[in-house]
Amino acid sequence: MKISILGTGYVGLTTGVCLAEIGHSVTCIDINELKIKNLCAGISPIYEPGIEELIINNIKLGRLSFTTSYDKGLEDAKVIIVAVGTPQREDGAANLSYLEGAAIDIAKNIKQDVIIAIKSTVPVGTNEVVKEIIQQNCSKDIVVDVVSNPEFLRQGSAIKDTMEADRIIIGSNNQESARIVEEMYKPLNVPILITSIRSAEMIKYASNAFLASKISYINEIANLCEALGANVEDVAKGMGKDKRIGEAFLYAGIGYGGSCFPKDVKALLHTAGINGVEFGFLKETISINNYQRELLVKKAIERFGILKGKKIACLGLSFKPDTDDMREAPSINIINSLTELGAEVIAYDPVAIDNAKKILGNNLTYAHSINECVTDTDAIFIVTEWREFRELDLPSILKKMKNPIIFDGRNCLREEKIRDCEKIEYYPVGKPSIIQ
Ligand code: UDX
Repeated sequence: MKISILGTGYVGLTTGVCLAEIGHSVTCIDINELKIKNLCAGISPIYEPGIEELIINNIKLGRLSFTTSYDKGLEDAKVIIVAVGTPQREDGAANLSYLEGAAIDIAKNIKQDVIIAIKSTVPVGTNEVVKEIIQQNCSKDIVVDVVSNPEFLRQGSAIKDTMEADRIIIGSNNQESARIVEEMYKPLNVPILITSIRSAEMIKYASNAFLASKISYINEIANLCEALGANVEDVAKGMGKDKRIGEAFLYAGIGYGGSCFPKDVKALLHTAGINGVEFGFLKETISINNYQRELLVKKAIERFGILKGKKIACLGLSFKPDTDDMREAPSINIINSLTELGAEVIAYDPVAIDNAKKILGNNLTYAHSINECVTDTDAIFIVTEWREFRELDLPSILKKMKNPIIFDGRNCLREEKIRDCEKIEYYPVGKPSIIQ
């Protein structure tokens, strides 16, 4: 099938690459010339394990191409997938200007009947508006239908999440359009659920808000575990064995971040508000998450009294491992709080330093290695659970520090490893501290 993709961000690029991999002929369109030039040369604009190999392979096989031209990119497409960003507006609502712009660009350039599958996360009702915009702006003899096709991939495992998706949601008020989009995804051999457009739009927000709330729930349980001397990891394991609860997304820590959860929870709360539904549950989800982001700083204040003049090593900057994405990363709040309190911060991240510099500037020192980062520091904050932090050579790290103190915001160090150290103060989340 001939497919065009609009937007080469995480969602658009991954979808394009995976659809090419299962045999479709895919053209990705983006207005950013440098991005397209790099993609044509097989260079990915995002850090995503496995994606470059797939780009290069599928270009070679003639199934994948990239262009800045709408005219060329939309030629003969049977389905156009729209995956442009819907960033957060100041009032929490989704900013739909890129999507509206994309709708007008499609309308002006399309020359054949086409189905438009919208992957961008949009408030309930938006896809119907997009259809109207396109119909009003395109030639009257062209039939355009819009289908809601939300995306659930995670950064860092985007390819696997697409190729082995738990489900594909197709929201359509037209059976034939739903059938064509279903046919496009069939080779993936994953469960497909067809719903109305509005239900599909809602499934995306309801899923993300639920997962974010699951994290806030376990974080609040973690805080209670700390107060009671219980261990949140054992509690989560015990809860997760119940199939109705499930083991995933029960890792306590310094809160959720990234480009989706914080934005989608706020957008759903905003939608609820303007439709007369209070949804206090989501307000709590957000406030617990804000509290968790300050947790390590609070623990450090409890330990040191004042942080002025203390040198703190931050291990990890990205919002989660295997990505260089700094959007809504807890590290931003942590580092800002530490510097406001007069602490000196030095940070290391395997891939996110360039992006971190754009947000945090010169508020801190950036280290090139773990060793450089921890040398002569009063404490380590583990902020992102990168594998290399899980595998820290603790005795050698602790020797380099001024004080052997670790605040682990992701519970990523194993207890036996800590117990093997002669002298250490280890403060995890939701578990008893280890001081020896
Ligand atoms: C998320 C959704 O999982 C995905 O379905 C959606 O399409 C986009 O948003 P992503 O933002 O890539 O994906 O990251 P994810 O792996 O879901 O983690 C989100 C945040 O939650 C991270 O900051 C992570 O550290 C945190 N998290 C996750 C926890 O704190 N505890 C957990 O148990 C799981």
